[in-house]
Amino acid sequence: TLSPITAESLEFVNFIPPFATARGREILKGVNYASGGAGIRNETGQTQGDRISMDRQLKNHQITVSKIKLGNHNKSTAEYLSKCIYVVAIGSNDYLNNYFLPQYYPTSTIYTPQQYAVVLNDQLSQQLTSLYKYGARKFAIFGLAAIGSIPIIRSSCGSGTNGSACVDNINNAVELFNVGLKSHVAALNRNLTRASFIFINSTGIGSTSPLLASLVSNVSCCEASSTTGLCVPLGSTCSNRSQYAFFDSIHPTQIVASVYAGRAYKAESPTDAYPFDISHLAQH
Ligand SMILES: *[C@@H]1O[C@H](CO)[C@@H](O)[C@H](O)[C@H]1NC(C)=O
Ligand SMILES: *[C@@H]1O[C@H](CO)[C@@H](O)[C@H](O)[C@H]1NC(C)=O
Ligand SMILES: *[C@@H]1O[C@H](CO)[C@@H](O)[C@H](O)[C@H]1NC(C)=O
Ligand SMILES: *[C@@H]1O[C@H](CO)[C@@H](O)[C@H](O)[C@H]1NC(C)=O
Ligand SMILES: *[C@@H]1O[C@H](CO)[C@@H](O)[C@H](O)[C@H]1NC(C)=O
Ligand SMILES: *[C@@H]1O[C@H](CO)[C@@H](O)[C@H](O)[C@H]1NC(C)=O
Ligand SMILES: *[C@@H]1O[C@H](CO)[C@@H](O)[C@H](O)[C@H]1NC(C)=O
Repeated sequence: TLSPITAESLEFVNFIPPFATARGREILKGVNYASGGAGIRNETGQTQGDRISMDRQLKNHQITVSKIKLGNHNKSTAEYLSKCIYVVAIGSNDYLNNYFLPQYYPTSTIYTPQQYAVVLNDQLSQQLTSLYKYGARKFAIFGLAAIGSIPIIRSSCGSGTNGSACVDNINNAVELFNVGLKSHVAALNRNLTRASFIFINSTGIGSTSPLLASLVSNVSCCEASSTTGLCVPLGSTCSNRSQYAFFDSIHPTQIVASVYAGRAYKAESPTDAYPFDISHLAQH
């Protein structure tokens, strides 16, 4: 949801088409490669079924780049690609559908949370460097939100002191990733000439928004399955989704996405975006 709303802030008239259906000159307006359940790591989300991992999304992007080259357009391919803003928001599933599912994935027995954050940060930096090599120059990289606090995790952690320790444990692991990501963004800016990388502080935005604080965040808008966290087919829904932070027990509502995307575009606090926000990235 973040990237369509970011596109709206940039005054795009139509939503960016998904890679699966984008055809012809449409690809010059942008392509959406996002995939539910996908991660930085290839195996992330495999218990959820098919998904397009970051490495596969990069392969799809290479296909788009070769189509632009073949298109014989007036501007050079490099010129097109260097004007695009590449919005990257990935990593939640590397925690929720990998590290914190020890019954299916071995990562938590191999790595401490600090080591896992470094492994993810390094792999994402390599992926972003590949994107740079294909011609990308403007990157907006979203940090992860406090995913320990989503309803399905809150309920699986239980209530009481142990429950909040379990939620904090996940949020602390994710924050190690975020702190590392911010310094990787700084390093990428030093390493790669004529490129601008920015880091969006999702946890900071999430914890300082009065609007978000006013929403119901411990209960989902729809009647959700306690095992999958997804909406039950034909189940009931809340009467006004603008008053809820979560649609199902995992995914934020549109109003939440619009707060994140809005402050990523135009920062309201100096800690929202580093070193600057998307409105400045657009002018770079
Ligand atoms: C992930 O899978 C892709 C193919 O989809 C492969 O090219 C890549 O090397 C794999 N990456 C890792 C780290 O195994
Ligand atoms: C290329 O430029 C010419 C003249 O400026 C214009 O008529 C044509 O539509 C342009 N083609 C593309 C693919 O943008
Ligand atoms: C916390 O969890 C431990 C181990 O699961 C248990 O022994 C203890 O009673 C729990 N404490 C509370 C306050 O629930
Ligand atoms: C930046 O370059 C240095 C030296 O080549 C390298 O060790 C480091 O991993 C690079 N950092 C990133 C985030 O790409
Ligand atoms: C995010 O913002 C909060 C303040 O809202 C700040 O305390 C925190 O250090 C920031 N995190 C990063 C990684 O910059
Ligand atoms: C959700 O929070 C509200 C207000 O803080 C509280 O009254 C309600 O009992 C909570 N519901 C659940 C299921 O935790
Ligand atoms: C839904 O809630 C929002 C936020 O409280 C409010 O602005 C809006 O008027 C409500 N819509 C309806 C139809 O009640």
